[in-house]
Amino acid sequence: MTRILFVCLGNICRSPTLEAVARVEFARAGLAVAVDSAGTADYHAGQPPDRRSIAAGAAHGYDLSALRARQIVAADFTRFDRILAADRANLRDLAALRGGRGTQPALFLPDAEVPDPYYGGPADFERVIELARTGMAALIAELRGGPR
Ligand code: 4NP
Repeated sequence: MTRILFVCLGNICRSPTLEAVARVEFARAGLAVAVDSAGTADYHAGQPPDRRSIAAGAAHGYDLSALRARQIVAADFTRFDRILAADRANLRDLAALRGGRGTQPALFLPDAEVPDPYYGGPADFERVIELARTGMAALIAELRGGPR
């Protein structure tokens, strides 16, 4: 089974949204994919997702409420086949943490970022859902063997 880890900074807004959207959309697509998420930082370790992310997800049928934040660990680089970062800062931090071993991280969106909504408003959280859905459709097409 393909194992995918979604990564952002705090693991309370973007990457738990990606994880929850992935779980639903991969199941809908009939793909056996194991998903998880983590943050490059430990600021929010052990905490549930941001209530604004939980609300935005719930409005679209994605349940984030049971998720808890964790920081990425060295073993993740060998446990996961794909490590997908929300933005370029996350990607740079991951490259430093990886130390040249294991899975090489990439951006979740091939050539774009999922902007951090943490200091934003409801529209920014809505945008994360939209980008998660768009990116997941592309990822599903790729996993099925089509062009991304
Ligand atoms: P995330 O959002 O990386 O999408 O989970 C953030 C969460 C917390 C902070 C920054 C971004 N923070 O600075 O605490």
